Amino acid sequence: MDRLAAVDPEGLKHSALAAVDAARTLGELDDARVAYLGRKSELKLALRDVRDRESGMALNAVREAIEGAVAAKQEALERAELEERLATERVDVTLPGTPHLRGHLHLVTQIRREVEDIFLGMGYEVVDGREVETTRYLFDALNMAPNHVTRSPLHSLYVSESTLLRTETSPSQIHTMEARKPPIFMVSLGRTYRRDTPDTTHSPFFHQVEGLAVDRGITLADLKGTLLHLLRALFGAERRARFTTDFFPFTEPSLQVAVSCFQCDGEGCAMCGRTGWIEIGGSGMVDPNVLRFVGYDPEEVSGFAFGWGLERMAILRHGLPDIRDLWANDLRFLRQF
Ligand code: DAH
Repeated sequence: MDRLAAVDPEGLKHSALAAVDAARTLGELDDARVAYLGRKSELKLALRDVRDRESGMALNAVREAIEGAVAAKQEALERAELEERLATERVDVTLPGTPHLRGHLHLVTQIRREVEDIFLGMGYEVVDGREVETTRYLFDALNMAPNHVTRSPLHSLYVSESTLLRTETSPSQIHTMEARKPPIFMVSLGRTYRRDTPDTTHSPFFHQVEGLAVDRGITLADLKGTLLHLLRALFGAERRARFTTDFFPFTEPSLQVAVSCFQCDGEGCAMCGRTGWIEIGGSGMVDPNVLRFVGYDPEEVSGFAFGWGLERMAILRHGLPDIRDLWANDLRFLRQF
């Protein structure tokens, strides 16, 4: 009876509701619930001791009021917590994602494939070459005199006395002819190496396309028609070709090929040095000595060949100021093409 007498139902209800109201988290609310409704709470102890109906009803009304307040507060806190989580863990699928960098083929690789396609379209085959060659294939077979300047280690990069990095793709001609009999219509594209000091127009390595056609009755007219087709495919259907005499040990006659300037169409401008023509590369009729070297009879078969630089094609087509830009691997440069 002492305890009951000490309990003030209205005061208890007041402080309980205040505690419930003050709870900011579910944990705090649980603390308040234990304090005011728990087994050892003032209210529960009083209820256990109550003897008269009136006091019991009053205390139960207080209990119901507190339970109701706790339940309502619990629901409010749970809703707030859910809303907080929804707000902070939200995924906005409309936000731009992290961009993935897409690579693409190097400009010279693009041109390499383009040239391959042009020749595949004419029925040629694409043949692999070797970047490390012997002096036999690079010089002897190509009819180069024993004192020819490219034999010098000052000009070429030797691996041993008789092996070196190829200075041109022409030895691919020899490997192909040795491996089979005419008719041969092939191109071979790849890297070449020279002991050159890099500057705007020189690089110690660059790429060439080598072409070779050998059959009965191949003439200079075949050379001219084929290379004019290549020039037009590369530089535009209106282009004209100019063939002037030149010298290469492995061709006779040898011809330098030029294309009518695709900027001024032959009028004369800065691009073509006011000549109207842009030199593209060497060509010629395969020298009888080369045919004999691989066991062909020059009285029976004849052929034409050419060897042009791929970087030069890229530089001309895009007006590039410096060959070194192509191999500096600066993505800001390479992404433009
Ligand atoms: N190999 C020569 C060079 O690198 C280019 C060349 C000229 C190749 C005439 C040929 C050719 O096949 O017939 O300068």
